[in-house]
Amino acid sequence: MTKIIFLSLLVFLTGSMQAQNQQETPGQKAAALVGKMTLEEKVGQMTQISLEAFLKMENGVVAEPHQLDMEKLKAAIQTYKVGSILNVGGDAQTVKNWQGIITSIQKLALAERLKIPVLYGIDAIHGNNYTLNSVLFPQQIAQAATFNPEMVRKATEVTAYETRASFIPWTFSPVLDLGRQPLWPRIWETFGEDPYLVTKMGEASIAGFQGKDISDKYHVAACLKHYMGYSMPLSGHDRTPAWIPERELREYFLPQFAAAVKAGARTVMVNSGEINGLPVHADKHILTDILKGELGFTGFAVSDWQDIQYLYLRHHIAKDNKEAVMIAINAGIDMSMVPTDYTFCEALLALVKEGKVPVSRIDDAVTRILTVKYEMGLFDRPLGKASDYKDFNSPAHNQLNYAVASESIALLKNEADLLPLKPGMKIFVTGPSANSMRPLNGGWARNWQGLNSDETESDHNTILEAIQNKFGKEQVSYAPGTTFTDPVDIAVAVTQAASADVIVLCIGENSYTETPGNISDLTLSAPQLELAKALSKTGKPIVFVLTEGRPRIIAQIEPYATAVLHAFLSGNESGNVIADILDGKINPSAKLPYTYPRYTNALHNYYHKYTESMEFDPTAGYQPQWEFGFGLSYTQFKYSDLKISSVTMSSNQPVQVSVRVTNTGKREGKETVLLYVSDLVASVTPEVKRLRAFEKTDLKPGESKIVTFTLDAAALSFINRDLQRTTEPGEFKISIADLTANFNYN
Ligand code: BGC
Repeated sequence: MTKIIFLSLLVFLTGSMQAQNQQETPGQKAAALVGKMTLEEKVGQMTQISLEAFLKMENGVVAEPHQLDMEKLKAAIQTYKVGSILNVGGDAQTVKNWQGIITSIQKLALAERLKIPVLYGIDAIHGNNYTLNSVLFPQQIAQAATFNPEMVRKATEVTAYETRASFIPWTFSPVLDLGRQPLWPRIWETFGEDPYLVTKMGEASIAGFQGKDISDKYHVAACLKHYMGYSMPLSGHDRTPAWIPERELREYFLPQFAAAVKAGARTVMVNSGEINGLPVHADKHILTDILKGELGFTGFAVSDWQDIQYLYLRHHIAKDNKEAVMIAINAGIDMSMVPTDYTFCEALLALVKEGKVPVSRIDDAVTRILTVKYEMGLFDRPLGKASDYKDFNSPAHNQLNYAVASESIALLKNEADLLPLKPGMKIFVTGPSANSMRPLNGGWARNWQGLNSDETESDHNTILEAIQNKFGKEQVSYAPGTTFTDPVDIAVAVTQAASADVIVLCIGENSYTETPGNISDLTLSAPQLELAKALSKTGKPIVFVLTEGRPRIIAQIEPYATAVLHAFLSGNESGNVIADILDGKINPSAKLPYTYPRYTNALHNYYHKYTESMEFDPTAGYQPQWEFGFGLSYTQFKYSDLKISSVTMSSNQPVQVSVRVTNTGKREGKETVLLYVSDLVASVTPEVKRLRAFEKTDLKPGESKIVTFTLDAAALSFINRDLQRTTEPGEFKISIADLTANFNYN
């Protein structure tokens, strides 16, 4: 071979090797990198530590604004090779401080032997809530009430943008838990009680957070949580036992996670609780067989806060930390949210050396983690650029927030067309949530429990401020009447109410999340009931504004309301939107994403069984205050012409269902058309009905539209007693509003 031929061959081979290198997938790159790593480096990648472990302290608490304690950070990165850091360690920081913190962390990580960037994750739940001045959107339950997945996609896209603005590429959102246990203090973090609605909203949020490509500087990786079955503790108290047979898990709790994995979600956070006596962090069947096997999930599973340690500290299924680590990692956890010490690293190293955790399990976990780091573009662009994020908290982002909130507040009652209020009416505003930002934003608002919203969100309007701005201060009077827990001066409120034309009574819950939000009685607190009763004696019409994260029972005072608005936790624009609904600028279009119960011991979901219905049990059957899907408008909608394309359906022949919706009122309005299916006879007792499709439409006065849905065999399916999804032949009933039609599946 001549020298020239040899050299050309060399050039060709090097070129093609480079090209091959460029074409390597993130998974291949990750596997190659794992091949170069020491055991210590691998274990470090599986370790996630909370930021508070590396912050300077002042008088025993984290100093504000946050400053990194570089010695502690060096120990994490240089000694323990920590691969991931989370959260905020206290209160929200400015976007500039975040950029500085993340940049310092990455520079330290990049100076290490293998230059592996740290993966920073944060609870950006309803906006990038741990960064000051980011947009605070309605919480998930209020987003679900819009029945508008496109709105949710847009809101999560802005959240992704504002999270990346803090140089953070990973959010612990969305929550795909099924909000069917109304006592549970995290129900407002869910998309409500219906698996189909949760699935659609979950898909929309994955699309918004992740976009087409999570390496994009304006998108983040989503984290599905809390996989799975977390939301239905028997007692209603957070992190207490759930008893859910696998058939029910697969019927109600799994489909939304399966759909989100299919939609490309790259990370999953695990349920902190126990199901059927086994903590999910120890459940190989749920974590490995179902998630990674059946669903084909190729991303990674992170534990929830301290949950590996809790296997011995709380759950008593391990005798010590080391045994807890062994159980969790062998069950399929890939990353431990430790969260503040290095006991995880030490235990895991020892376990691998003793052969109690196989190296193959470690390599699998680390490959998954590094794959996601490659996919996020962290290796190519570990450091962000502040000038890329000019739209942080922009007018456009805030306008979107207003638009989402305006579709998230439900009108549940409006007797004698009290609303919109007539011009010139004198308004008396009262109640514990009337003049505070806390009950509008709830938890995960600048800090975990949302305690400081009155200070941090003071440039946004409370309900009172917005009503004063809208109607004029001279027309509006105010007295709090009561706090959430103690009557302040109900008599003063009653006296002031006497000189008004209408009372706006703002009641509900103050901010909370997780275990601190546990309650033993779903009834609204006593002082608020007392205030409502006292005000009713004035004979003035009362508008209830319910600012609450779960449906607190109000049956004893509901008759005193002439109108009811359910505002959920609709974020920083709640006040403005409520004022605009009261004056009629906004026509409400939200619908309940959960059943609003009437009685404390009758907490049925809308998809209850026939034996739980009033037909079977006229004394105590399903008879909620308001049904799932209920919500009024200032206009009226008439449904007619329900048609099915064929009276028989088969596995390969879907049917089209159409219905005409007409706006018969005097103003434009949005209406969500809800299609329910009832399986009339099945081998597992069928629910009375299940939501199988919905569509929101906009209609001008007098306008009429035909809304069409396609239903296939999958939409009629259920999990049978052999745990298989099946569609059984037989008769089905479709219902849309008060129209019904039957067909057969062969
Ligand atoms: C919560 C998670 C959250 C995590 C990190 C846990 O207590 O259950 O939802 O993502 O903390 O803040």
